[in-house]
Amino acid sequence: MRRGNVRLRSAHNRTVTTPDALDLPLTPPPGGKVLHESSRCTIVWGDCADLVGSLPTVDLLATDPPYGVKWNSGRNSGRFGPLLGDDGTLDVPGLLGAITRAHVRRKRHVYVFGYRPGQLSEPMQLGGMAELVWDKGVIGPGSLDCPWGPQHEIVAFGVHNQSAANRARGDGNLAARLRSGSVLRYQRPNAARVTRHPTEKPVPLMRELIESSSRQGDMVLDPFAGSGSTLVAAILAGRRAYGIELDHRYAELAVERVRAAERIADQIAAA
Ligand SMILES: C[S@@+](CC[C@H](N)C(=O)[O-])C[C@H]1O[C@@H](n2cnc3c(N)ncnc32)[C@H](O)[C@@H]1O
Repeated sequence: MRRGNVRLRSAHNRTVTTPDALDLPLTPPPGGKVLHESSRCTIVWGDCADLVGSLPTVDLLATDPPYGVKWNSGRNSGRFGPLLGDDGTLDVPGLLGAITRAHVRRKRHVYVFGYRPGQLSEPMQLGGMAELVWDKGVIGPGSLDCPWGPQHEIVAFGVHNQSAANRARGDGNLAARLRSGSVLRYQRPNAARVTRHPTEKPVPLMRELIESSSRQGDMVLDPFAGSGSTLVAAILAGRRAYGIELDHRYAELAVERVRAAERIADQIAAA
C-alpha cells in the first residue's frame, strides 16, 4: 500500500497516478511475470504459492518469509506500509514445505529466518537441524518498559529430506568441516540506510550462509526475495539464483540490485 497521490508503473509499464482511495498494491498476473532473466539469476514478480511445481530444482533454499507479526510499527511504517503476507494468515511452514518437497534436492540445506527448526522439521522434511542467531549489532525498536531490547533474529537451519528414521533421531548429513559457531554477527543495515526494504538482510550475512551450504554454480532459491539480498549474495559468491517477490516495488528493486551484482560478477570473471 502507498499513501497519498503516488505515481506507479502499471504491469504494462505505463506510469499512472492514483489517489489514496484507489491506492491498491499492483497484483501480479497468475503464474507470475519474469522481470529479470540471465545466466546468473531469474526474478519473478509473483506469489510463490502459485509457483509451486513450476520452479527449477535447487541446491539451497535461503529465505526470509513474512513473520506474521504485522510489521508496521515505529518510524518506518509510514514510509513502507505493511509487508505483504504479514497479517498472520499465510501458512509459511506449509508453503515452504510444499516448495522444499517439490524443488530442493535431497540432502541439501535450507535456512529460514524468523522460525524455529521445530516449526519446520516435519513440513519441510528436515534433519540435522540447528537454530542460528543473527546478532544485528544494534538494538531495534520495542517497548521501553522492558529492559531488554531486540538485537537478534533466529534462523532455522536444516538438511532436506533425511529419512523418517534419521529425522526422528535428529540426524543430518553435515560434514564436520562445515561446523562453525551458531551466532552470526553482522551489522543490520542501519537507520540511515533502511530506505529500501523494512527487513533488508545484510548481503555478507547471506553470503556466509550460502558459502557454508553450496558450491560454485549451485542454484539458490529465495521464494520471499524482498529487495533481493539473497540473490545479490548468491551472485557475488558465484552461485546462480532464483527469486520470487510478490510486492512489485521490491521485485523491481531486486532487479536493480541484481543487475549491479551481475556487473561486478562479470568484471571479476573477466579479470
Ligand atoms: C521479510 S521480507 C524479505 C526481505 C529480504 N530478505 C530482503 O533482504 O530484502 C518478506 C518478503 O516476502 C514478500 N512476500 C509476502 N508474501 C509473498 C508471497 N506469497 N510470494 C512471494 N513473496 C511474498 C513480501 O512482499 C516481503 O518483501
